[in-house]
Amino acid sequence: MSRLAGKVAVITGGADGIGKATCELFAAEGCAVVIADVNVEKGKTVAREIAGRGGRALFVETDIAREPSIVRMVAQAVQAFSKIDILVNNAAVFVLKGIDATVEEWRQILDVNVIGVSLVSKHVVPEIRKAGGGAIVNLGSISSFIAQPQFVTYNATKAAIASMTRCMALDLAADKIRVNAVCPGTVWTQIVERLTREKGMDRQAADADPTWGGACMLKRLADTSEIAKAILFLASDDASYITAAHLMVDGGYTAV
Ligand SMILES: NC(=O)c1ccc[n+]([C@@H]2O[C@H](COP(=O)([O-])OP(=O)(O)OC[C@H]3O[C@@H](n4cnc5c(N)ncnc54)[C@H](O)[C@@H]3O)[C@@H](O)[C@H]2O)c1
Repeated sequence: MSRLAGKVAVITGGADGIGKATCELFAAEGCAVVIADVNVEKGKTVAREIAGRGGRALFVETDIAREPSIVRMVAQAVQAFSKIDILVNNAAVFVLKGIDATVEEWRQILDVNVIGVSLVSKHVVPEIRKAGGGAIVNLGSISSFIAQPQFVTYNATKAAIASMTRCMALDLAADKIRVNAVCPGTVWTQIVERLTREKGMDRQAADADPTWGGACMLKRLADTSEIAKAILFLASDDASYITAAHLMVDGGYTAV
């Protein structure tokens, strides 16, 4: 299949987890992918693996909390692939704190999850405009909409993503840029593996546990590839009349 044939996508946080799965799926669909991540070793590995399968991928060491780093990344992306059609704002940090969070912890999570997303969009959008339009997919979460214990910091940033998605969709519609959010439930990624391991659970136990996989209608955690497929849908022309939407990919979690 080649639902993104001829397209170029920047995927932040593409070295691991949902971002990595998205890079792999987009490349398999004919898209050239720019993996923008702070993790050099993992980012280079993802790029090498995609190239080994005949795909087009470029890793650019990028810290989305630092504007000069973003500017450099966009320049390298355009130099390598001539244009940008798609942006996936996926990179985030998981500072999981209640109201005991320090100012430093707040700044760390706001710098990446909120300000970083805005700055990457600021520098990528002019390139998408030059390409004649395109799509932005932001990674929200069930945490954009619900309360979770001792998650004040993280959920504040994911709620911001929900609002930013609507505002960006409004501002960029005239440029033929659709902006949507994918909102996953709990996905089997490094943070979830660590948190469940700390409670003595393996994947099977985490799937069944009533506070983890068992909390949603489908009674299991999501795999990263299942989130990547939703991101692909919103990034592709299959979603040509969809903007400002939040696609819940949560096994029914938020409906009950
Ligand atoms: N894992 C889940 O269960 C889950 C659920 C809902 C939403 N999400 C959202 O999905 C997205 C991806 O989550 P994940 O679990 O795959 O994360 P992950 O931690 O597995 O991967 C995140 C990637 O982002 C990179 N990154 C972190 N800070 C960065 C920075 N400053 N600049 C550039 N790259 C940076 C990391 O190096 C890493 O490669 C996030 O936005 C997260 O909030 C995740």
